[in-house]
Amino acid sequence: MSDSTASSFVVVANRLPVDRITTPGSDGDTWRRSPGGLVTALHPVLQAEAGTWIGWAGGEGPAPSPFTLDGMRLSPVPLDADELRNYYEGFSNATLWPLYHDAVEQPAFHRHWWKSYEQVNARFAERAAAEAAPNALVWVQDYQLQLVPAMLRRLRPDLRIGFFLHIPFPPTELFMQLPRRLDILRGLLGADVVGFQSPGAAQNFLRLTRQLLGLKPRAHIVEAEDGRPVRAESYPISIDTASVEQIAASDVVANRAKELRAELGDPKTIILGVDRLDYTKGIEQRLKAFRELLSNGELSVPDTVMVQVATPSRERIEHYRALRRTVEREVGRINGDFGRVGIPAVHYLHQSYSREELAALYLIADVMTVTPLRDGMNLVAKEYVASRLNNDGALVLSEFAGAAADLKQAFQVNPHDLDALKSVLVAAVRSPLDEQRRRMRAMRRYLRGHDVKHWARGFLTALGAPETATAYDSDN
Ligand code: ADP
Ligand code: G6P
Repeated sequence: MSDSTASSFVVVANRLPVDRITTPGSDGDTWRRSPGGLVTALHPVLQAEAGTWIGWAGGEGPAPSPFTLDGMRLSPVPLDADELRNYYEGFSNATLWPLYHDAVEQPAFHRHWWKSYEQVNARFAERAAAEAAPNALVWVQDYQLQLVPAMLRRLRPDLRIGFFLHIPFPPTELFMQLPRRLDILRGLLGADVVGFQSPGAAQNFLRLTRQLLGLKPRAHIVEAEDGRPVRAESYPISIDTASVEQIAASDVVANRAKELRAELGDPKTIILGVDRLDYTKGIEQRLKAFRELLSNGELSVPDTVMVQVATPSRERIEHYRALRRTVEREVGRINGDFGRVGIPAVHYLHQSYSREELAALYLIADVMTVTPLRDGMNLVAKEYVASRLNNDGALVLSEFAGAAADLKQAFQVNPHDLDALKSVLVAAVRSPLDEQRRRMRAMRRYLRGHDVKHWARGFLTALGAPETATAYDSDN
């Protein structure tokens, strides 16, 4: 990579923030920026600094050449079929993902998965080393790339390196089960700042550096084995509140919401769930609670209907296949027992949607259910709140989502306790409008002050990069 393309700000994430658009008949693909919160947050800095985003473009085999989109340079990293199986579906999503989420499903491990994880992490580190200008700032994202900070530091000691973990970081007892746990800790300690979603996660990490490496963490700082100070702290991520509000306020979305409500038979209460079809999200527990409430008559169709969007995800991994079977069986059972002709009790949608369609769903949801067994943050909960322009509606939120620390006025619940889940759901359905407004107003105010740019600015300032943080001054 020549110096002319070297960037002073580099983001490294497993996925590039783009969707590939293939038009039949035309030669070559085009790309569209994907609507994720992370790219929204980092876009101002990437633009101001002529930054580069390194990531996988999806698919297997050779990657496209680097290209520019909306003022960002995108540098695609290839994954072959074996790496998809072993690095992505294997060590990232069948070992780390369940283990870091309280082992709600049994983590699996194979030594060849680890080899592949190391190999792919090395490829990302080498690409970052090639793309970064002297003394550049490199920000590595998430559990798929935990070895990159140390690998990159070995290649390029001049860089400032940040790492942010979007998912939970487990307590000692669980982390200790992880094969190659020392390599993971040392990988993360290659960063100057390691960011987490919650203070508890940062504490778990610091405690482990003492227990496993004999280091001496003090407050938020630990001196790594090479004598460098590493800061470990919480920086809870958020959404682009203004843009979510703007979409929810558009005529297109308002009209679509009216249409959707009518299509659902204009029920008194619509209960909504929007999740990736993932076993951490507590979808089964939520459906079971709904079924029991229909069964004992506390809720009834057609007054109340549920809409469950379950976004397809990681579909070749066995735990995900099994979950799909269970969820679909449960939906079928509920509809068989309680649906009417033309009025199912649960509208189940295993599809992806545009931001506008999701916003319309948020607008018609009288009660939103976000009940993960464990979740690093949960942006859906925040998107729902930001979309409630009239301040009505009730959010049922698991205590085990990172979002619970930010959205304190939600109807919070322990989703492992089925009776609690049922009574909180009923309380939310029956909550008076003035109570809904009091809660929603407070949560919306919080999200205006704590949006995703606030998050990025906080992290970059901790990384000692105030010059990048100023990219937001003109942007806001
Ligand atoms: P996770 O990162 O575990 O999937 P989050 O709730 O933090 O969970 O983030 C999910 C993101 O994906 C949200 O921004 C949400 O709007 C989006 N999303 C969820 N379901 C769909 C869907 N069916 N179609 C399009 N976007 C979706
Ligand atoms: C979570 C993870 C992200 C991941 C996303 C979608 O939000 O924290 O790193 O990109 O899920 O999962 P996928 O496996 O499709 O990238």
